[in-house]
Amino acid sequence: MSYKKISAEEAARLLKDNDVIGFSGFTAAGCPKAVTIELAKIAEEAHAAGKSFKVGYYTGASTGDSIDGALSRAHAIKFRSPYQSNGDMRKELNNRDAHYFDLHLSELQQYLRYGFLQKPDWAILEACDITDDGKIYLTSAVGIAPTVAHLADRIIIELNKYHPKELAGIHDIYEPADPPVRREIPVYKPSDRIGLPYIQVDPAKIVGIVETDLPNEVGAFSPSDEVTNQIGRNVAEFLSREMKAGRIPASFLPVQSGVGNVANAVLGAMGANKDIPPFEIYTEVIQDSVVTLMKEGNVKFASGCSLTLSTPALEAIYNNLSEFRGKLLLRSQEISNSPEIARRLGLISINTALEADIFGNINSTHVLGTKMMNGIGGSGDFCRNAYLSIFTAPSTAKDGKISAIVPMVSHLDHSEHSVKILITEHGIADLRGKSPIQRTEAIINNCVDPQYKGLLKDYLNLGQKGHTPQNMAAALAFHDTFNKKGDMRLTDWSVYK
Ligand code: COA
Repeated sequence: MSYKKISAEEAARLLKDNDVIGFSGFTAAGCPKAVTIELAKIAEEAHAAGKSFKVGYYTGASTGDSIDGALSRAHAIKFRSPYQSNGDMRKELNNRDAHYFDLHLSELQQYLRYGFLQKPDWAILEACDITDDGKIYLTSAVGIAPTVAHLADRIIIELNKYHPKELAGIHDIYEPADPPVRREIPVYKPSDRIGLPYIQVDPAKIVGIVETDLPNEVGAFSPSDEVTNQIGRNVAEFLSREMKAGRIPASFLPVQSGVGNVANAVLGAMGANKDIPPFEIYTEVIQDSVVTLMKEGNVKFASGCSLTLSTPALEAIYNNLSEFRGKLLLRSQEISNSPEIARRLGLISINTALEADIFGNINSTHVLGTKMMNGIGGSGDFCRNAYLSIFTAPSTAKDGKISAIVPMVSHLDHSEHSVKILITEHGIADLRGKSPIQRTEAIINNCVDPQYKGLLKDYLNLGQKGHTPQNMAAALAFHDTFNKKGDMRLTDWSVYK
């Protein structure tokens, strides 16, 4: 190989205060894991010497702890986008020590190309293989890698031998042309391949190769519990009813499923429902449940942006690549999350809400209206453009002290116009074709926890008028009560009468 081999520390020392980096990977899959650990140490040294050292960076979505965790703990982040889910990063951005701007994941690559955002100086990419003529074969995710590899002037490769070179061929790298000459993205079914299996760059841009042998840092899922399992069964039951009513074709439609514990349980329940035929997946994150469903024959094909799998699930694929290669495809996020493709394929989109309101608006991102949880991720890319957009959530959080269904969401990510079905462990609210007041009936009767039904019905009786009968003084009283008394159940409407 003609490239210079360098250590992670040598690579990190090439970066300077205020530099901007674009990373490969999507979730903890496919991210670099060595250079940023050294970069964090360099930042800490600089801070100890009274000097400034912060970098700005773009990722596919969340990362492993070696990026977001290490750089947060070193207070080395100037700005960051998009989705994150690291505890230390959450503290850093909620303290406003790092500037975070949350974006629909499908938009980031084109925003970088359009020049809306600061251009990355560096691309740091994890690869399983690289050729002398600049062909980079990624590992278990694609994310924004093709775009940052093209835009950055300098590239550092972490060549990670944990990932087999035989992964080559699982990626489909395609960057659309930009307006005014963009054409349709020619994906007409989840398995359509439209690009190359590698990223082609000018080899002169590659300043060094850091060799590693490190597994992904994907955390384990919490075991599913009765609440998440019941949400899953309700989703499966709803989809089976839709099929019987002829509103979903008998051959079914491709499924997009969100991130987290609820999403994992939902897919499991869909596999267990005998009315739902084997289906295809067109999504961003391929989680463990997809691999299980594939082995059981319930999922025929999965197109995604990352293999966000626990180590045993990923190794099961790596040990059996010949079987899985024909059933899995990894794309960059502007293709996996493309609104155009979501609409064309007719995706059934299932995402998890932090909070919903009785009119069908969704908060996916902000705890009690102010604290960033993770980010909007791909939920907006999909829900607005899906054939059928479903949001799920446990009806309560924090042992019942928080109702996930409130009079008015404390932060709005997805409006009532994009949300068609809301499902909790208690039941299903079908919001299609319903006026605001009809939606409140469907949601309160079917989805709200019994401890909160009375309170929410009483809210509607506060005497307000109008098409959407919100009471402007009381709309956020659940949140206010939680902040003051630690329990939304103590909300007292008498002060608003
Ligand atoms: N108010 C305050 N806290 C709440 C809450 C609410 N209404 N609802 C849930 N929480 C808390 C839970 O108690 C839990 O806290 P803990 O970590 O201290 O235990 C935490 O939020 C996560 O809840 P959990 O039920 O484990 O969620 P999850 O793993 O299923 O993830 C989201 C749920 C909403 C955070 C996650 O799906 C997400 O980030 N979504 C936005 C992006 C997205 O939808 N992407 C998919 C596109 S493919």
